Amino acid sequence: MRLDAMTALVTGGASGLGAATAHAFARAGADVVITDLPNSEGKEMAARIGARARFVPADITDGDSLSAAMGAAKEGGHLRAVVHCAGRGGDRLRILDKEGNPAGLDSYREVLEVNLIGSYNVLRLAAAAMADNPVQDGDRGAIVLTASAAAFEGQIGQTSYAASKGGVHAMTIVAARDLARWGIRVNTIAPGTFDTPMLDRLRQDIRDSIAATIPHPKRLGDAASYADLALSIVRNSYLNGETIRLDGALRMAPR
Ligand SMILES: NC(=O)c1ccc[n+]([C@@H]2O[C@H](COP(=O)([O-])OP(=O)(O)OC[C@H]3O[C@@H](n4cnc5c(N)ncnc54)[C@H](O)[C@@H]3O)[C@@H](O)[C@H]2O)c1
Repeated sequence: MRLDAMTALVTGGASGLGAATAHAFARAGADVVITDLPNSEGKEMAARIGARARFVPADITDGDSLSAAMGAAKEGGHLRAVVHCAGRGGDRLRILDKEGNPAGLDSYREVLEVNLIGSYNVLRLAAAAMADNPVQDGDRGAIVLTASAAAFEGQIGQTSYAASKGGVHAMTIVAARDLARWGIRVNTIAPGTFDTPMLDRLRQDIRDSIAATIPHPKRLGDAASYADLALSIVRNSYLNGETIRLDGALRMAPR
């Protein structure tokens, strides 16, 4: 699929992986809609990218605001790419506390609400927005979701996060099969450990020790590498139903 003469919507585009992806689409000649929470820095990020980018606030867990954002992205062009980067970290809660009491359910529900139900909300509304596009190179559109290496080797304290990201991985092939009749491809990127604001809360020595566990290259991932892969997935018409790990061969230890 050609990246110029299309509109790409990037959720979570105000920060981290989403911001790098929004920049990359604009550099490749696409018009870009950044979608993020109203109190995010989406407007400033769009201004930094330039005339090709605009900010349309939406909460990915909310049908109405996200549907309006997809509608806005369709104005004046064809929305052919949606890269879904919005998400949150986990809660680091163990199943039992030190006294053997079970963890509550509220936090688990909150993580699944944003990362899993939010992803399905993006998937269904993106597909609906793409369904009437004219076919180009065999496609009406391409959707890229974001899982995590934790979908495969979640660490202790990551039950909610790993379940949410495992769900995103699991629905990728189902969505690709389901949307095949519409000419819409669905793929997922599973990042390892990337240097974004999501990791800012970690101390430098912890970031260094994470970097040391990555076989090659021995450093945290760069958001530009994520963006590069997202663009390649959208361009490559034969890539469908796949979760691609982007992690420098990292396989996470139990803790
Ligand atoms: N950074 C990493 O190491 C890493 C590793 C694996 C997976 N991921 C995943 O990649 C994605 C992007 O992470 P990041 O590192 O760029 O994080 P980030 O915190 O820099 O950016 C996430 C963005 O999502 C937005 N967001 C959060 N909840 C939202 C909601 N309900 N509606 C709309 N926007 C919302 C935030 O405002 C923020 O701008 C997340 O899904 C994360 O789980 C990140």
